[in-house]
Amino acid sequence: MTGELFSPLPLRSGQVLKNRIAKAAMEENMAGDGQLPDEQLFTLYRQWAAGGTGLLITGNVMVHAEALTGPAGVVLDEHAPLKPFAEWAEAGKSGGGAIWMQINHPGRQVASGMPGVVWGPSDIGVSLGKHSSRFGRPTAMTAQQIDETVTRYAVTAHRAEKAGFDGVEIHAAHGYLLSQFLSPLVNQRTDHWGGSLENRARMLLDTVRAVRAAVSPSFAVAVKLNSADFQRGGFDAEDARQVIAMLEPLGVDLVELSGGSYESPAMTGRSTDTRTQAREAYFLDLARDLVTTSPVPLMLTGGITRRATADRVLDSGVAVIGMGTALAVTPDLPHRWHGGREADRRMRPVTWSDKALASAASMAQVRHQMRRLARGSSPRPGTHPAIALIAEQRKQRTALRRYRAWLTGPRGAA
Ligand SMILES: Cc1cc2nc3c(=O)[nH]c(=O)nc-3n(C[C@H](O)[C@H](O)[C@H](O)COP(=O)(O)O)c2cc1C
Repeated sequence: MTGELFSPLPLRSGQVLKNRIAKAAMEENMAGDGQLPDEQLFTLYRQWAAGGTGLLITGNVMVHAEALTGPAGVVLDEHAPLKPFAEWAEAGKSGGGAIWMQINHPGRQVASGMPGVVWGPSDIGVSLGKHSSRFGRPTAMTAQQIDETVTRYAVTAHRAEKAGFDGVEIHAAHGYLLSQFLSPLVNQRTDHWGGSLENRARMLLDTVRAVRAAVSPSFAVAVKLNSADFQRGGFDAEDARQVIAMLEPLGVDLVELSGGSYESPAMTGRSTDTRTQAREAYFLDLARDLVTTSPVPLMLTGGITRRATADRVLDSGVAVIGMGTALAVTPDLPHRWHGGREADRRMRPVTWSDKALASAASMAQVRHQMRRLARGSSPRPGTHPAIALIAEQRKQRTALRRYRAWLTGPRGAA
């Protein structure tokens, strides 16, 4: 499965990615009125499309209007009008690459103070030490809520295809709902959704089946999975290997490997293992083992910013490299690499000792760049993380008022 960075990749659905470089999902927090994509997102995605990336994966789009990862999240449910999504898809495809929509339900990772529901496999809240009050307290989902949620993923996927997206990526990483079900620490159920790995993976597998059944065979279906949760007693690399094997017969095109959650933010290089911070391609060691047995092409995301690292990841047998931060700072990085050049700007690392706060600040810094791109300005990666964090919090407060009014108001116009 090894390939050169600029060689095409044919997928099981028949879709062909034009190269091996993907923009990983980054929640933009830029929903316009009605929690819909608007001109800001279209401008942002046109810039990424023009930069030469073979695959753009959108920031996570919410399948359930009452459960958002944040108040400026985009929602695609059965009521949403399709036109703004069609424009978004068109913007993403304007450079000749593919665009997939990442679809997600936050489960228990909903900020406290958000309206709507906070659900989880069990009533175990996110544990963040002194920051634990950042998230709401979850209630354990009923069987009916689980079934309805599986259906919501399928509805969103079906509508994404109608809007012109080329595929969906089901988010089962980073401690969101499907990852919560996979985790033996968060999922303490004693029914057939808890206990053994087969049971913990049931909701993910049902979701993949429902999504596959709701879309055409030529539409790509991918899954983002943690290579490990980086928590003692949590979902580990052996679990990941087995889940990938379970996904294969269901017609999955690609599995993206990441790692961590809010409790152990390894995805931004800040796991409980401090050594990960120092290196690029945080999860490469785990991925190297997983590629030897994986029957599905793998994508690896986390810490890749240089061509030599990208080549090393592909040499290990990974089929696609995913980048978030690097493309927020340098949206034309693939074109640069193709021309033998590197990025001339890099994000300033956040070295704060409080891992949860450092992770939030580095995400705010990246969002700051995305907002600049969305306005048609150049990125400015030197922005101080504290400034980016404060600006982000202010925007979130305004978005929360708007989301609350939308959620409690009439949605009949949609
Ligand atoms: C601002 C921001 C938002 C993110 N939102 C998402 C998301 O919506 N879905 C997801 O799977 N990962 C999300 N991530 C994680 C990225 O996809 C990626 O795994 C992580 O940033 C590590 O890759 P990088 O080092 O190339 O940035 C986000 C990361 C950042 C910085």
